[in-house]
Amino acid sequence: MWTDVTVTKDGSALHLKGPDGDTGFHAIWLRDNALDAATRDAGNAQRLITLADIPKDLTLSQAHIREGQLHVIFAPEDKACAWPLGWLADHAYDRPTAATPLPDRVQTWDAALNNSVPTADLTELQSDNATRRDWLAAIRRYGFAKVTGMTPREGGLFDIVDLFGYVRETNYGRLFEVRTEVNPVNLAYTGLGLQAHTDNPYRDPVPTLQVLACLENSASGGENMVVDGFAAALRLRAQDPRGFDLLAGHPMRFAYTGGAGIALHSRRPIIDLLPDGTLQGIRFNARSAAPNTDVPFADMADWYAAYRRLSDIIDDTAMEVQFKLAPGEAFIVDNTRVLHARKGYSGAGSRWLQGCYADKDGLLSTLTALETAHA
Ligand code: FE2
Repeated sequence: MWTDVTVTKDGSALHLKGPDGDTGFHAIWLRDNALDAATRDAGNAQRLITLADIPKDLTLSQAHIREGQLHVIFAPEDKACAWPLGWLADHAYDRPTAATPLPDRVQTWDAALNNSVPTADLTELQSDNATRRDWLAAIRRYGFAKVTGMTPREGGLFDIVDLFGYVRETNYGRLFEVRTEVNPVNLAYTGLGLQAHTDNPYRDPVPTLQVLACLENSASGGENMVVDGFAAALRLRAQDPRGFDLLAGHPMRFAYTGGAGIALHSRRPIIDLLPDGTLQGIRFNARSAAPNTDVPFADMADWYAAYRRLSDIIDDTAMEVQFKLAPGEAFIVDNTRVLHARKGYSGAGSRWLQGCYADKDGLLSTLTALETAHA
């Protein structure tokens, strides 16, 4: 931890030095992130001030370390504030940019994960917080997980959403049936095989989670597959950096107009990056792709070459984890990252799945709360 603090000559920042490394904080950052009860509500932790409450000529007039805390005095307010050094270490921003473009606690995977698909039993998930925490953490890490031990019944998939959050209702209903229909409004409701895809890219925002639960599955075929979209994007970047930049740097268009009174359109990139280059999401769905009118003529051929290359990577069986759901089993996918697919099915027997959408903010909130409670 840090043992020494020096304020810059103009008082605009300070530097902390110690055996574990040096770091710096700006006066404006420290004042904005003061922990005192006049700045942060002691109950809900929300900020009580706006930037207009901070003097434009703010400086640090004093700083010292005492009893594991950094103490400073701000001028011209003459306001004293303190932060535990551990808190500052957790929030330090004076560090080299991360080499990996992956979000925190995300791990890419390929077919090797077939041997260790994250799975938990519904009753245990409902009754044991540690099991639920570990299962939610697996979804954060891998972007999907299975559930076993459900009673195959209509609407049973809502029990999974109840573990962490709320259903996202759409024009397909609170839940949708995935089984062969006559005159289907969506190709999902046929026996056709479906290339790996993310759902509903024509929405903005997309549903960030999907749950699919199996009620009947005696037909031959119909296996489910999942592919890590982040792993696919990174493989594309390694093979074709310019292609990666093209797919990330231009919007794609998606549309769904398959139902009466419904005309969903979105304009978002296939590879979605944060401004610092961190992978934020993947949208990939051949059925819902609309004509792309946003790539300059000079780049369109290369954009398509990259799109095809990504499609080939996604179709590579070395990327896929495959499982056949039995009645009473379900899986959940992070629909911003993990693509799902199914093999065609036909013949005798039946295949009946029910699906619903939910959102990742609630899942991550529940997970963080569980982790904090266990810390
Ligand atoms: Fe789907």
